[in-house]
Amino acid sequence: MVAVAILAAGRGTRMKSDLPKVLHSLGGRSLVQRVLDSVAVLNPERRLVIVGYGSEKVRASLADEPGLEFVEQTEQLGTGHAVQQLIPHLEGYDGDLLVLNGDVPLLRSETLSNLLKIHQASGNAATILTAHLPEPKGYGRVFCDGNNIVTQIVEERDCTAAQKQNRRINAGVYCFKWSALAAALPQLSADNDQQEYYLTDTVHFLKPVMAVDVSDFQEILGINDRKQLATAYDILQTRVKDRWMAAGVTFIDPDSVTVDDEVILEPDVVIEPQTHLRGKTLIRTGSRIGPGSLVENSQIGENVTVLFSVISDSVVQAGTRVGPYAHLRGHAEVGQNCRIGNFVELKNTVTGDRTNVSHLSYLGDATVGSRVNVGAGTITANYDGVNKHRTVIGDRTKTGSNCVLVAPLTLGENVTVAAGSVVTEDVESNALVIARARQVVKPGWQMQPKDTAGQ
Ligand code: UD1
Ligand code: CA
Repeated sequence: MVAVAILAAGRGTRMKSDLPKVLHSLGGRSLVQRVLDSVAVLNPERRLVIVGYGSEKVRASLADEPGLEFVEQTEQLGTGHAVQQLIPHLEGYDGDLLVLNGDVPLLRSETLSNLLKIHQASGNAATILTAHLPEPKGYGRVFCDGNNIVTQIVEERDCTAAQKQNRRINAGVYCFKWSALAAALPQLSADNDQQEYYLTDTVHFLKPVMAVDVSDFQEILGINDRKQLATAYDILQTRVKDRWMAAGVTFIDPDSVTVDDEVILEPDVVIEPQTHLRGKTLIRTGSRIGPGSLVENSQIGENVTVLFSVISDSVVQAGTRVGPYAHLRGHAEVGQNCRIGNFVELKNTVTGDRTNVSHLSYLGDATVGSRVNVGAGTITANYDGVNKHRTVIGDRTKTGSNCVLVAPLTLGENVTVAAGSVVTEDVESNALVIARARQVVKPGWQMQPKDTAGQ
Protein backbone atom coordinates (compact mmCIF):
# COMPACT_ATOMS: atom_id res chain seq x y z
CA MET A 1 0.00 0.00 0.00
CA VAL A 2 1.57 3.29 -1.03
CA ALA A 3 0.53 6.91 -0.92
CA VAL A 4 2.48 9.64 -2.66
CA ALA A 5 3.18 13.16 -1.43
CA ILE A 6 4.74 15.80 -3.64
CA LEU A 7 6.31 18.89 -2.10
CA ALA A 8 5.29 21.84 -4.23
CA ALA A 9 4.77 24.74 -1.83
CA GLY A 10 8.09 26.52 -2.19
CA ARG A 11 8.45 29.68 -4.24
CA GLY A 12 11.75 28.69 -5.79
CA THR A 13 13.53 31.96 -5.03
CA ARG A 14 16.52 31.02 -7.15
CA MET A 15 14.34 30.94 -10.29
CA LYS A 16 13.81 34.72 -9.88
CA SER A 17 10.27 34.34 -11.17
CA ASP A 18 6.71 35.19 -10.18
CA LEU A 19 5.60 31.79 -11.38
CA PRO A 20 5.84 29.08 -8.70
CA LYS A 21 8.93 27.02 -9.49
CA VAL A 22 7.07 23.76 -9.93
CA LEU A 23 4.96 25.33 -12.71
CA HIS A 24 7.93 26.13 -14.91
CA SER A 25 7.64 24.16 -18.09
CA LEU A 26 10.07 21.49 -19.15
CA GLY A 27 9.43 20.29 -22.69
CA GLY A 28 5.72 21.08 -22.60
CA ARG A 29 4.85 19.79 -19.13
CA SER A 30 5.30 21.54 -15.79
CA LEU A 31 7.85 20.19 -13.31
CA VAL A 32 5.15 19.06 -10.89
CA GLN A 33 3.15 17.41 -13.68
CA ARG A 34 6.23 15.42 -14.63
CA VAL A 35 6.76 14.29 -11.06
CA LEU A 36 3.12 13.21 -10.89
CA ASP A 37 3.42 11.34 -14.18
CA SER A 38 6.51 9.50 -12.95
CA VAL A 39 4.59 7.97 -10.02
CA ALA A 40 1.64 6.77 -12.12
CA VAL A 41 3.09 3.24 -12.53
CA LEU A 42 3.03 2.75 -8.77
CA ASN A 43 -0.71 3.06 -8.86
CA PRO A 44 -0.73 4.97 -5.58
CA GLU A 45 -3.74 4.69 -3.38
CA ARG A 46 -3.61 8.40 -2.60
CA ARG A 47 -1.80 11.32 -4.17
CA LEU A 48 -1.28 14.44 -2.10
CA VAL A 49 0.31 17.65 -3.34
CA ILE A 50 1.53 20.15 -0.77
CA VAL A 51 0.92 23.64 -2.09
CA GLY A 52 1.62 27.10 -0.70
CA TYR A 53 3.30 29.76 -2.81
CA GLY A 54 1.04 30.40 -5.81
CA SER A 55 -1.28 27.70 -4.51
CA GLU A 56 -4.20 28.76 -6.72
CA LYS A 57 -2.07 28.52 -9.85
CA VAL A 58 -0.64 25.13 -8.91
CA ARG A 59 -4.11 23.76 -8.13
CA ALA A 60 -5.50 25.11 -11.39
CA SER A 61 -2.69 23.58 -13.42
CA LEU A 62 -3.48 20.14 -11.98
CA ALA A 63 -7.26 20.49 -12.08
CA ASP A 64 -7.63 17.65 -14.60
CA GLU A 65 -5.95 15.06 -12.37
CA PRO A 66 -8.68 12.90 -10.85
CA GLY A 67 -8.57 12.26 -7.12
CA LEU A 68 -5.59 14.50 -6.41
CA GLU A 69 -5.63 15.90 -2.86
CA PHE A 70 -4.18 19.33 -2.14
CA VAL A 71 -2.74 20.14 1.24
CA GLU A 72 -2.07 23.76 2.08
CA GLN A 73 1.22 24.85 3.67
CA THR A 74 0.47 28.50 4.31
CA GLU A 75 3.95 29.42 5.49
CA GLN A 76 6.92 27.72 3.88
CA LEU A 77 9.05 26.75 6.84
CA GLY A 78 10.94 23.94 5.14
CA THR A 79 10.50 20.48 3.67
CA GLY A 80 9.93 18.90 7.11
CA HIS A 81 7.28 21.49 7.91
CA ALA A 82 5.66 20.75 4.55
CA VAL A 83 5.36 17.05 5.37
CA GLN A 84 4.06 17.87 8.86
CA GLN A 85 0.98 19.33 7.15
CA LEU A 86 0.06 15.80 6.04
CA ILE A 87 -0.47 14.53 9.60
CA PRO A 88 -4.20 15.35 9.87
CA HIS A 89 -4.83 14.11 6.32
CA LEU A 90 -3.16 10.73 6.79
CA GLU A 91 -4.57 9.97 10.21
CA GLY A 92 -5.10 6.23 10.51
CA TYR A 93 -3.18 5.53 7.30
CA ASP A 94 -1.02 2.50 7.80
CA GLY A 95 0.98 2.09 4.59
CA ASP A 96 4.11 3.56 3.07
CA LEU A 97 4.50 7.13 1.92
CA LEU A 98 6.64 8.03 -1.06
CA VAL A 99 7.73 11.66 -0.74
CA LEU A 100 9.11 13.51 -3.73
CA ASN A 101 10.29 17.04 -4.24
CA GLY A 102 8.16 18.75 -6.88
CA ASP A 103 11.32 20.03 -8.57
CA VAL A 104 12.87 16.67 -9.52
CA PRO A 105 11.28 16.09 -12.93
CA LEU A 106 13.52 13.55 -14.68
CA LEU A 107 12.95 10.51 -12.48
CA ARG A 108 12.27 7.28 -14.32
CA SER A 109 9.31 5.26 -13.20
CA GLU A 110 11.52 2.14 -12.88
CA THR A 111 13.74 3.96 -10.40
CA LEU A 112 10.75 4.68 -8.19
CA SER A 113 9.37 1.14 -8.45
CA ASN A 114 12.78 -0.22 -7.54
CA LEU A 115 13.11 2.07 -4.51
CA LEU A 116 9.67 1.07 -3.29
CA LYS A 117 10.41 -2.61 -3.80
CA ILE A 118 13.63 -2.43 -1.79
CA HIS A 119 11.87 -0.44 0.92
CA GLN A 120 9.04 -2.90 1.24
CA ALA A 121 11.29 -5.97 1.15
CA SER A 122 13.70 -4.64 3.79
CA GLY A 123 11.35 -3.40 6.49
CA ASN A 124 13.25 -0.10 6.73
CA ALA A 125 11.63 2.84 8.48
CA ALA A 126 12.80 4.89 5.51
CA THR A 127 14.64 4.24 2.26
CA ILE A 128 16.08 7.20 0.43
CA LEU A 129 17.38 7.66 -3.08
CA THR A 130 20.98 8.85 -3.32
CA ALA A 131 23.50 9.51 -6.07
CA HIS A 132 27.22 10.07 -6.37
CA LEU A 133 27.56 13.34 -8.23
CA PRO A 134 30.70 14.67 -9.91
CA GLU A 135 29.48 18.14 -8.91
CA PRO A 136 27.41 17.80 -5.73
CA LYS A 137 27.10 21.56 -5.19
CA GLY A 138 23.77 22.62 -3.71
CA TYR A 139 22.58 19.20 -2.60
CA GLY A 140 22.28 17.74 0.88
CA ARG A 141 25.13 15.28 1.61
CA VAL A 142 24.26 11.79 2.81
CA PHE A 143 26.47 10.05 5.35
CA CYS A 144 26.23 6.28 5.76
CA ASP A 145 27.89 3.50 7.63
CA GLY A 146 29.46 0.62 5.68
CA ASN A 147 26.05 -1.00 5.07
CA ASN A 148 24.29 1.95 3.41
CA ILE A 149 22.52 2.77 6.65
CA VAL A 150 22.14 6.55 6.80
CA THR A 151 23.58 8.26 9.85
CA GLN A 152 22.84 11.85 8.83
CA ILE A 153 21.97 14.16 5.95
CA VAL A 154 23.58 17.58 6.04
CA GLU A 155 22.48 20.44 3.79
CA GLU A 156 25.37 21.97 1.90
CA ARG A 157 25.07 25.29 3.70
CA ASP A 158 25.38 23.47 7.05
CA CYS A 159 28.35 21.31 5.92
CA THR A 160 31.86 21.70 7.22
CA ALA A 161 34.56 21.95 4.55
CA ALA A 162 35.33 18.27 5.13
CA GLN A 163 31.66 17.22 4.84
CA LYS A 164 31.37 19.05 1.53
CA GLN A 165 33.90 16.63 0.08
CA ASN A 166 31.28 13.88 0.29
CA ARG A 167 29.78 13.49 -3.17
CA ARG A 168 26.93 11.24 -2.13
CA ILE A 169 23.83 13.39 -2.27
CA ASN A 170 20.18 13.24 -1.28
CA ALA A 171 17.97 13.09 -4.35
CA GLY A 172 14.87 14.35 -2.56
CA VAL A 173 13.02 11.05 -3.08
CA TYR A 174 12.07 9.06 0.00
CA CYS A 175 9.97 6.05 1.02
CA PHE A 176 8.77 6.22 4.60
CA LYS A 177 6.78 3.90 6.77
CA TRP A 178 4.12 6.52 7.46
CA SER A 179 3.45 5.54 11.07
CA ALA A 180 7.17 5.92 11.89
CA LEU A 181 7.45 9.23 10.01
CA ALA A 182 4.32 10.65 11.66
CA ALA A 183 5.93 9.98 15.05
CA ALA A 184 9.24 11.56 13.99
CA LEU A 185 7.89 14.75 12.37
CA PRO A 186 6.86 16.58 15.58
CA GLN A 187 10.39 16.16 16.91
CA LEU A 188 12.06 18.28 14.20
CA SER A 189 13.72 21.55 15.11
CA ALA A 190 14.80 24.42 12.90
CA ASP A 191 18.30 24.56 14.27
CA ASN A 192 20.19 25.15 11.02
CA ASP A 193 21.49 27.85 8.73
CA GLN A 194 18.09 28.48 7.09
CA GLN A 195 16.11 28.10 10.34
CA GLU A 196 13.81 25.69 8.52
CA TYR A 197 12.34 22.34 9.48
CA TYR A 198 14.19 19.84 7.34
CA LEU A 199 12.55 16.59 6.30
CA THR A 200 16.05 15.13 6.10
CA ASP A 201 16.48 15.53 9.87
CA THR A 202 13.87 12.83 10.45
CA VAL A 203 16.69 10.31 9.86
CA HIS A 204 17.73 10.99 13.46
CA PHE A 205 14.42 9.60 14.71
CA LEU A 206 13.92 6.71 12.29
CA LYS A 207 15.66 3.34 12.40
CA PRO A 208 16.89 2.07 10.10
CA VAL A 209 17.14 4.48 7.16
CA MET A 210 18.76 2.97 4.11
CA ALA A 211 20.31 4.72 1.12
CA VAL A 212 19.83 3.30 -2.37
CA ASP A 213 21.92 4.64 -5.23
CA VAL A 214 20.33 5.60 -8.50
CA SER A 215 22.18 4.14 -11.48
CA ASP A 216 21.87 7.20 -13.75
CA PHE A 217 22.54 10.31 -11.69
CA GLN A 218 21.02 12.56 -14.37
CA GLU A 219 17.60 11.39 -13.21
CA ILE A 220 17.74 13.13 -9.89
CA LEU A 221 18.68 16.61 -11.07
CA GLY A 222 16.76 19.08 -8.91
CA ILE A 223 15.65 22.30 -10.59
CA ASN A 224 16.51 25.32 -8.48
CA ASP A 225 17.47 27.87 -11.13
CA ARG A 226 17.15 28.56 -14.85
CA LYS A 227 20.50 26.98 -15.61
CA GLN A 228 19.41 23.68 -14.08
CA LEU A 229 16.14 23.97 -16.01
CA ALA A 230 18.12 24.26 -19.25
CA THR A 231 20.36 21.34 -18.26
CA ALA A 232 17.29 19.20 -17.53
CA TYR A 233 15.85 20.12 -20.93
CA ASP A 234 19.08 19.00 -22.57
CA ILE A 235 19.00 15.66 -20.75
CA LEU A 236 15.38 15.16 -21.68
CA GLN A 237 16.03 16.00 -25.33
CA THR A 238 18.89 13.53 -25.55
CA ARG A 239 16.66 10.84 -24.05
CA VAL A 240 13.80 11.57 -26.45
CA LYS A 241 15.89 11.80 -29.63
CA ASP A 242 17.95 8.71 -28.76
CA ARG A 243 14.69 6.81 -28.36
CA TRP A 244 13.40 7.91 -31.79
CA MET A 245 16.70 7.23 -33.52
CA ALA A 246 16.61 3.71 -32.10
CA ALA A 247 13.09 3.42 -33.54
CA GLY A 248 14.20 4.34 -37.08
CA VAL A 249 13.93 8.13 -37.30
CA THR A 250 16.72 10.17 -38.92
CA PHE A 251 17.80 13.46 -37.40
CA ILE A 252 20.16 15.30 -39.75
CA ASP A 253 21.50 17.51 -36.96
CA PRO A 254 19.96 16.34 -33.68
CA ASP A 255 21.49 19.13 -31.60
CA SER A 256 19.56 21.77 -33.53
CA VAL A 257 16.23 19.95 -33.18
CA THR A 258 13.86 19.81 -30.21
CA VAL A 259 11.16 17.17 -29.72
CA ASP A 260 8.60 17.21 -26.91
CA ASP A 261 8.20 13.84 -25.28
CA GLU A 262 4.55 13.42 -26.28
CA VAL A 263 5.47 13.57 -29.98
CA ILE A 264 5.15 10.32 -31.97
CA LEU A 265 7.36 9.64 -34.98
CA GLU A 266 7.13 6.68 -37.33
CA PRO A 267 10.14 4.90 -38.85
CA ASP A 268 11.77 6.54 -41.88
CA VAL A 269 10.72 10.01 -40.86
CA VAL A 270 13.52 12.50 -41.53
CA ILE A 271 13.86 15.55 -39.31
CA GLU A 272 16.00 18.23 -40.88
CA PRO A 273 17.99 20.83 -38.91
CA GLN A 274 16.42 23.66 -36.90
CA THR A 275 13.09 21.93 -36.56
CA HIS A 276 10.91 21.83 -33.46
CA LEU A 277 8.17 19.29 -32.80
CA ARG A 278 5.86 20.12 -29.94
CA GLY A 279 2.85 18.88 -28.04
CA LYS A 280 0.70 16.03 -29.28
CA THR A 281 2.22 15.78 -32.73
CA LEU A 282 2.25 12.65 -34.91
CA ILE A 283 4.40 12.33 -38.01
CA ARG A 284 3.86 9.32 -40.25
CA THR A 285 6.43 7.32 -42.14
CA GLY A 286 8.36 8.77 -45.08
CA SER A 287 7.74 12.38 -44.14
CA ARG A 288 10.51 14.95 -44.16
CA ILE A 289 10.12 17.89 -41.83
CA GLY A 290 12.36 20.95 -42.03
CA PRO A 291 14.77 22.52 -42.21
CA GLY A 292 13.49 25.41 -40.17
CA SER A 293 10.01 24.23 -39.23
CA LEU A 294 7.76 24.20 -36.17
CA VAL A 295 5.03 21.56 -35.89
CA GLU A 296 2.80 21.75 -32.85
CA ASN A 297 -0.19 19.59 -31.84
CA SER A 298 -0.59 18.44 -35.42
CA GLN A 299 -0.88 15.25 -37.45
CA ILE A 300 1.25 14.83 -40.54
CA GLY A 301 0.44 11.94 -42.89
CA GLU A 302 2.83 9.71 -44.86
CA ASN A 303 5.36 11.15 -47.31
CA VAL A 304 4.62 14.77 -46.53
CA THR A 305 7.31 17.42 -46.89
CA VAL A 306 7.32 20.51 -44.74
CA LEU A 307 9.92 23.13 -45.55
CA PHE A 308 10.54 26.28 -43.49
CA SER A 309 6.96 26.32 -42.24
CA VAL A 310 4.86 26.59 -39.09
CA ILE A 311 2.00 24.15 -38.51
CA SER A 312 -0.08 24.22 -35.37
CA ASP A 313 -3.29 22.44 -34.32
CA SER A 314 -3.69 21.13 -37.85
CA VAL A 315 -3.78 18.01 -40.03
CA VAL A 316 -1.83 17.42 -43.26
CA GLN A 317 -2.62 14.26 -45.19
CA ALA A 318 -0.32 11.98 -47.15
CA GLY A 319 1.79 13.20 -50.03
CA THR A 320 1.19 16.90 -49.49
CA ARG A 321 3.97 19.45 -49.80
CA VAL A 322 3.99 22.41 -47.43
CA GLY A 323 6.20 25.48 -47.77
CA PRO A 324 8.56 27.08 -48.02
CA TYR A 325 7.13 29.67 -45.63
CA ALA A 326 3.62 28.41 -45.12
CA HIS A 327 1.59 28.84 -41.91
CA LEU A 328 -1.17 26.37 -41.04
CA ARG A 329 -3.06 27.04 -37.85
CA GLY A 330 -6.39 26.91 -36.05
CA HIS A 331 -7.52 23.47 -37.22
CA ALA A 332 -6.45 23.62 -40.83
CA GLU A 333 -6.96 20.24 -42.52
CA VAL A 334 -5.22 19.73 -45.82
CA GLY A 335 -6.08 16.70 -47.99
CA GLN A 336 -3.76 14.28 -49.80
CA ASN A 337 -1.27 15.29 -52.49
CA CYS A 338 -1.93 18.98 -52.10
CA ARG A 339 0.52 21.80 -52.44
CA ILE A 340 0.49 24.59 -49.88
CA GLY A 341 3.20 26.88 -51.09
CA ASN A 342 5.14 30.04 -50.50
CA PHE A 343 3.73 32.58 -48.06
CA VAL A 344 0.38 30.87 -47.72
CA GLU A 345 -1.61 31.00 -44.49
CA LEU A 346 -4.48 28.61 -43.80
CA LYS A 347 -6.64 29.07 -40.72
CA ASN A 348 -9.57 26.83 -39.83
CA THR A 349 -9.67 25.75 -43.46
CA VAL A 350 -10.33 22.29 -44.85
CA THR A 351 -9.23 21.21 -48.33
CA GLY A 352 -9.94 18.10 -50.39
CA ASP A 353 -7.22 16.15 -52.22
CA ARG A 354 -4.94 17.46 -55.00
CA THR A 355 -5.75 21.07 -54.24
CA ASN A 356 -3.05 23.69 -54.73
CA VAL A 357 -2.67 26.95 -52.90
CA SER A 358 0.76 27.76 -54.19
CA HIS A 359 1.57 31.39 -53.61
CA LEU A 360 0.78 34.35 -51.36
CA SER A 361 -2.71 33.42 -50.15
CA TYR A 362 -4.75 33.66 -46.96
CA LEU A 363 -7.62 31.20 -46.60
CA GLY A 364 -9.50 31.58 -43.32
CA ASP A 365 -12.67 29.71 -42.34
CA ALA A 366 -12.90 28.08 -45.77
CA THR A 367 -14.08 24.71 -47.04
CA VAL A 368 -12.22 23.99 -50.24
CA GLY A 369 -12.95 20.99 -52.49
CA SER A 370 -10.63 18.67 -54.39
CA ARG A 371 -8.45 19.61 -57.38
CA VAL A 372 -9.03 23.28 -56.68
CA ASN A 373 -6.41 25.74 -57.81
CA VAL A 374 -6.23 28.83 -55.68
CA GLY A 375 -4.39 31.46 -57.70
CA ALA A 376 -1.52 33.54 -56.42
CA GLY A 377 -2.62 36.20 -53.99
CA THR A 378 -6.17 34.93 -53.52
CA ILE A 379 -7.52 36.02 -50.16
CA THR A 380 -10.67 35.17 -48.24
CA ALA A 381 -12.11 38.23 -46.56
CA ASN A 382 -13.57 36.20 -43.72
CA TYR A 383 -14.06 38.88 -41.10
CA ASP A 384 -16.51 41.75 -41.33
CA GLY A 385 -15.17 43.46 -38.25
CA VAL A 386 -17.63 41.69 -35.95
CA ASN A 387 -18.11 38.10 -37.13
CA LYS A 388 -16.15 35.48 -39.02
CA HIS A 389 -17.85 33.97 -42.10
CA ARG A 390 -17.20 30.85 -44.18
CA THR A 391 -16.12 30.57 -47.78
CA VAL A 392 -17.01 27.39 -49.65
CA ILE A 393 -15.16 26.52 -52.85
CA GLY A 394 -16.38 23.56 -54.93
CA ASP A 395 -14.25 20.86 -56.60
CA ARG A 396 -12.07 21.83 -59.59
CA THR A 397 -12.75 25.54 -59.16
CA LYS A 398 -9.93 27.93 -60.09
CA THR A 399 -9.33 31.44 -58.90
CA GLY A 400 -7.13 33.81 -60.86
CA SER A 401 -4.39 35.85 -59.30
CA ASN A 402 -5.19 38.47 -56.72
CA CYS A 403 -8.84 37.65 -56.04
CA VAL A 404 -10.75 38.59 -52.91
CA LEU A 405 -13.48 36.17 -51.86
CA VAL A 406 -15.75 38.12 -49.53
CA ALA A 407 -17.42 35.73 -47.07
CA PRO A 408 -20.02 34.42 -46.55
CA LEU A 409 -19.58 33.09 -50.06
CA THR A 410 -20.09 29.86 -51.98
CA LEU A 411 -18.40 29.17 -55.29
CA GLY A 412 -19.80 26.06 -57.01
CA GLU A 413 -17.80 23.35 -58.78
CA ASN A 414 -15.74 24.11 -61.91
CA VAL A 415 -16.05 27.84 -61.36
CA THR A 416 -13.42 30.10 -62.86
CA VAL A 417 -12.80 33.39 -61.13
CA ALA A 418 -11.13 36.03 -63.27
CA ALA A 419 -7.92 37.55 -61.98
CA GLY A 420 -8.33 40.57 -59.74
CA SER A 421 -11.97 39.87 -58.93
CA VAL A 422 -13.65 40.90 -55.70
CA VAL A 423 -16.39 38.28 -55.42
CA THR A 424 -19.22 39.18 -53.08
CA GLU A 425 -22.07 36.98 -54.30
CA ASP A 426 -22.42 33.20 -54.65
CA VAL A 427 -21.51 31.69 -58.01
CA GLU A 428 -23.20 28.63 -59.51
CA SER A 429 -21.22 25.64 -60.81
CA ASN A 430 -19.53 25.73 -64.23
CA ALA A 431 -19.62 29.54 -64.45
CA LEU A 432 -17.00 32.17 -65.13
CA VAL A 433 -17.17 35.11 -62.77
CA ILE A 434 -15.55 38.44 -63.48
CA ALA A 435 -16.02 40.87 -60.63
CA ARG A 436 -13.96 43.88 -61.41
CA ALA A 437 -14.27 47.09 -63.41
CA ARG A 438 -13.84 46.65 -67.13
CA GLN A 439 -10.62 48.11 -68.43
CA VAL A 440 -11.02 51.50 -70.05
CA VAL A 441 -8.46 52.78 -72.55
CA LYS A 442 -8.55 56.38 -73.76
CA PRO A 443 -6.24 56.66 -76.77
CA GLY A 444 -4.00 59.69 -77.00
CA TRP A 445 -4.97 60.88 -73.52
CA GLN A 446 -2.33 63.02 -71.76
CA MET A 447 -2.27 64.49 -68.29
CA GLN A 448 -2.93 68.26 -68.48
CA PRO A 449 0.17 70.11 -67.27
CA LYS A 450 -0.66 71.91 -64.03
CA ASP A 451 -0.35 75.68 -63.92
CA THR A 452 2.15 76.00 -61.11
CA ALA A 453 2.75 79.72 -61.53
CA GLY A 454 2.21 81.72 -58.36
CA GLN A 455 2.23 78.69 -56.06
C1 UD1 B 1 16.26 19.49 -0.82
C2 UD1 B 1 16.87 18.60 0.30
C3 UD1 B 1 18.31 18.25 -0.10
C4 UD1 B 1 18.30 17.53 -1.43
C5 UD1 B 1 17.59 18.35 -2.49
C6 UD1 B 1 17.39 17.49 -3.71
C7 UD1 B 1 15.86 19.28 2.42
C8 UD1 B 1 16.07 20.01 3.68
N1 UD1 B 1 16.87 19.33 1.55
O1 UD1 B 1 17.02 20.69 -0.86
O2 UD1 B 1 18.88 17.42 0.90
O3 UD1 B 1 19.65 17.27 -1.83
O4 UD1 B 1 16.27 18.77 -2.05
O5 UD1 B 1 16.85 18.22 -4.81
O6 UD1 B 1 14.83 18.67 2.21
N2 UD1 B 1 9.06 22.89 -0.40
C9 UD1 B 1 7.83 22.97 0.19
N3 UD1 B 1 7.69 23.68 1.33
C10 UD1 B 1 8.75 24.28 1.94
C11 UD1 B 1 10.01 24.18 1.34
C12 UD1 B 1 10.14 23.47 0.17
O7 UD1 B 1 6.86 22.44 -0.34
O8 UD1 B 1 8.53 24.90 3.00
C13 UD1 B 1 9.19 22.13 -1.66
C14 UD1 B 1 9.70 22.97 -2.80
O9 UD1 B 1 8.62 23.52 -3.53
C15 UD1 B 1 10.49 21.98 -3.63
C16 UD1 B 1 10.94 20.94 -2.62
O10 UD1 B 1 10.15 21.13 -1.48
O11 UD1 B 1 9.70 21.36 -4.60
C17 UD1 B 1 12.41 21.06 -2.27
O12 UD1 B 1 12.66 22.33 -1.73
P1 UD1 B 1 14.00 23.14 -2.04
O13 UD1 B 1 13.97 24.39 -1.30
O14 UD1 B 1 14.24 23.17 -3.49
O15 UD1 B 1 15.07 22.15 -1.35
P2 UD1 B 1 16.61 22.03 -1.67
O16 UD1 B 1 17.33 23.17 -1.05
O17 UD1 B 1 16.83 21.81 -3.10
CA1 CA C 1 15.53 21.77 -4.84
